[in-house]
Amino acid sequence: MPARPFAAPLFSDAFFEGLSTSVRDFDTAETLPPACYVDADFYEFEKEAVFNHEWLCVGREAWVMEPGDYFTTHIVGEPVIVARTRANELVAMSSVCQHRAMLVAEGRGNTRGFLCPYHHWTYGLDGKLVNAPAMERTCDFDRASIALPRFKVEVWLGFVFINFDLEAQPLAPRLADIEAALAPYDLANAEGPPPDAPGKFPWNWKVMFENNNDGYHASRLHQGPLHDFVPSAQSVFPPAPEGAAGYLRFNGTLHADASFNVTQKALLPVFPGLTEVDRNRMTFANIPPTLSLVVTSDMVIYLILRADGPESHEMDTGLLFAPGAMRDPAFEHKLAMNMSAANAIIAQDLHVDGLVQVGLRSRFAVRGRYSWQEGAQIAFNRWLAPRYQAAWDQAKVGRTMAAAE
Ligand code: FES
Ligand SMILES: [Fe+2]
Repeated sequence: MPARPFAAPLFSDAFFEGLSTSVRDFDTAETLPPACYVDADFYEFEKEAVFNHEWLCVGREAWVMEPGDYFTTHIVGEPVIVARTRANELVAMSSVCQHRAMLVAEGRGNTRGFLCPYHHWTYGLDGKLVNAPAMERTCDFDRASIALPRFKVEVWLGFVFINFDLEAQPLAPRLADIEAALAPYDLANAEGPPPDAPGKFPWNWKVMFENNNDGYHASRLHQGPLHDFVPSAQSVFPPAPEGAAGYLRFNGTLHADASFNVTQKALLPVFPGLTEVDRNRMTFANIPPTLSLVVTSDMVIYLILRADGPESHEMDTGLLFAPGAMRDPAFEHKLAMNMSAANAIIAQDLHVDGLVQVGLRSRFAVRGRYSWQEGAQIAFNRWLAPRYQAAWDQAKVGRTMAAAE
């Protein structure tokens, strides 16, 4: 990539000190350096700074309720299995066979264990190796010591989060504000079908996350009858507490129970616990680096972002409804009305996202300035920048120690 004039070289103290301007209040802040979105080395750095230690949403607990249920996914190049053991424990682990690295599971289903198709090593639902044929002549082969590497797992509001860092602190205590805001929707008991096949997008995961964050574009890019009832000027950004694992954005609506369809009103049953305040706004909850929730009175869209390269990611798009909503004989028709509008809006977003990535690659991309309607971008920067800085400091300590040896 050509060097940008005046840009501090990547992986220098000056570059990381320069991130401090992205965490100011909106009126003096500037956007992250474009290199954070396009540079392959920065992506490798970001894996360690963010993905190897943060809680990553991978799906819904409802997909694995019965013993033997499992689903697979992947994030930052790591193939993952989530399963329910015979002892009813929810587990998450690598699907990489400890023989010669074949993946022991694909898709989703119910199974007694994971049989690697290549040479038939067999693992239990808990990941322990239970059989390995024709290994009796192999010296010092200790079957009992071999298992699929396990990850930490936590369920929050019905969402399954994993953490590659076995020392990670629990997630839920750092989401108390978001949990309180979402309590009336009772998402742990909300219902919805598993998402369709993921979308694959040729742009950095943060471009997508920031688009989901962004109330500023609502009245501009999405101007028209499908979105005008959620005006950007009614954006509210509650400050995230110190150390919070996510942040909220509220957006007032021009009428109660607004919903993304051409009638602009909820067609499906409204979540039963909502207050008047809830019914007159939309709630956007963001838990970087993976989960983004779009919360309306009758439907929650959850977006699970799964980075898989410096300029690419996949995204699962799922839907949640009030308990019983899907039993309405007209459910499919009403949902089709919502999705018709949602898909028109999403198409506008995807068009922009793809071209933002093109722009970010340009030598003329700059660190831009923010509107007051972009408070959630500041919250995202305040989540990211300290993690980048900590990983940079850690890397420097490692280099200093290596040089001293
Ligand atoms: S790679 Fe899995 S059994 Fe050989
Ligand atoms: Fe949008």
